Amino acid sequence: MLNATAVAHPNIALVKYWGKADAQLALPATGSVSMGLDVFPTTTTVTVDGGSGDGQEARDRFTLNGHVVDDGALVRVQQFLDLVRELAGSSERASVVSENTVPTGAGLASSASGFAALATAAAAAYGLDLSPRDLSRLARRGSGSATRSIPGGVAVWHAGDDQGSFAEPIPAPPMAMVVVTIDAGPKPIGSREAMRRTIATSPFYPAWVTSTTETVGDMLTACAAGDFTRIGEITESNALRMHATIEGAFPPIRYLNARSVAVFDAVAELRAGGTEAYATADAGPNVVVLTKPEDRSAVAGALASLGDVIESGTGPAARVLRSEEIGSNPD
Ligand code: DP6
Repeated sequence: MLNATAVAHPNIALVKYWGKADAQLALPATGSVSMGLDVFPTTTTVTVDGGSGDGQEARDRFTLNGHVVDDGALVRVQQFLDLVRELAGSSERASVVSENTVPTGAGLASSASGFAALATAAAAAYGLDLSPRDLSRLARRGSGSATRSIPGGVAVWHAGDDQGSFAEPIPAPPMAMVVVTIDAGPKPIGSREAMRRTIATSPFYPAWVTSTTETVGDMLTACAAGDFTRIGEITESNALRMHATIEGAFPPIRYLNARSVAVFDAVAELRAGGTEAYATADAGPNVVVLTKPEDRSAVAGALASLGDVIESGTGPAARVLRSEEIGSNPD
């Protein structure tokens, strides 16, 4: 049987993905741009071993951080592996063992590194030889943000149809991030459900789609020009626009709390003092601060009283660590 282990890192969007044009194919309503982190890796091993049970009843097995998972997360993994099996022409179930160092469900992109690692390991274990583009398209079907964790680095995820919606690296100036964790617990409403509610009820959603489409173009221009200041300004503005759009949903959804806002204020103060730092936040209260590599320690020090701070550089692409045939049957 085949066994493959892969590692992937989370990414933080500089221009956010919020809303799908097609939920079935996981096509985003707009493009997005991200920076991959070099902290919080997810390491996942997929073994094509028949899973648990027999024949028709066989199921995939999923273990996360040493605990057997038997809820909605298992269903998402099984549905994802069904796509891989379809591509590989296999019906054999698998066992998935994942070690995730991201605080799961806290809005720190655990699904991005999770599905990027799963896509990379599963493709190798089922014997698929996918190009980086096709691997990124596959990861997209697990979780939108995972698309961008395949290339790592600074990446753009294109909106488009199934063939055209993938992520690829783009040139950008040196950048770093400081993750300020305010609350590592699970968020009250997951991003998938919150996206649906935003689309259905927020009067600001159409404006989010038109403005973000323009913002992606502006961000690509700023990255190509190596204009860190412009990248930072766009990053903070786009994050606040996303949160305003989400807050416009009914019933309202508010991810940022008073402590998150305090970090945004502290970052504005850093800027007033001459340090280039820009805040962003995903679907949770935690704030991530974009800064220059030479300023990251000073920024982390300045924010340390507001939450748990972790510094990160620009992270690598998802990759296979090991792939082997194990326990092969002598007959
Ligand atoms: C706020 O990728 O978790 O982090 O595609 O439904 O799995 P699904 O959503 P997910 O949403 C991420 C939203 C975000 C912004 C971003 O990463 O671009």
